[in-house]
Amino acid sequence: NKNLVVAIDGYSSCGKSTLAKALARKLHFIYIDTGAMYRAVTLYFLRNRVDLTSEVMVKEALKNIHLNFHFQNYQSHILLNDEDVSDEIRQMEVSQQVSEVSAIKAVRTEMVSQQQRMGKSKNIVMDGRDIGTTVFPDAQVKIFMTADPKIRAERRFKELAAKGENITLEEVFENIAHRDYLDTTRKESPLTRAHDAIILDNTELTEEEQLSFALEKITPFL
Ligand code: C5P
Repeated sequence: NKNLVVAIDGYSSCGKSTLAKALARKLHFIYIDTGAMYRAVTLYFLRNRVDLTSEVMVKEALKNIHLNFHFQNYQSHILLNDEDVSDEIRQMEVSQQVSEVSAIKAVRTEMVSQQQRMGKSKNIVMDGRDIGTTVFPDAQVKIFMTADPKIRAERRFKELAAKGENITLEEVFENIAHRDYLDTTRKESPLTRAHDAIILDNTELTEEEQLSFALEKITPFL
């Protein structure tokens, strides 16, 4: 029996992780948040002042980065060299750098191979930017998520404000637009819809509606 891979890609702050988590919970699949991996790498680079233009420094740093996920009460936590950095990687400083870091070829090569290993022989829901195109081009179900940029910014702003981050809606909007631009225009596996991905525009959909939409696509493979 082959394992089942659900690939969820799309723009920043589209609700990919919300849907992915809900699916994983419902189906008892493993959820892998690849954005968290690029964010943890970015945090390490920031902390250690890694020069992004130096291939030698980047490669050396990558050797010293060990990422792990651990699951608790249906929450996925990411560990960077055994330290739980799940909250810290959501901070604006990391969000502002992550798309530059994730555009580096050596970074992508390493992350993609770790992601492929994690998804081997397990039923998984994986979300990111290049899952359906590069990480698991053979995924049985591919969903490409999108939503109105203003709505996305408002949703993310509410989330960050609730956590006490001191930012404005404009800053959040700018950051999302900036990351979308870098993610879609970079050379190494840019964000793009896989030809066989189903589009899910959730501008006007509730979380329940998105979940049933996705379950309908997955059920035939169960
Ligand atoms: O999903 P999230 O918004 O947390 O991802 C943060 C950033 O990581 C994205 O803006 C993108 O630059 C990068 N990323 C990526 N490939 C992935 C997942 C995330 O390049 N598969």
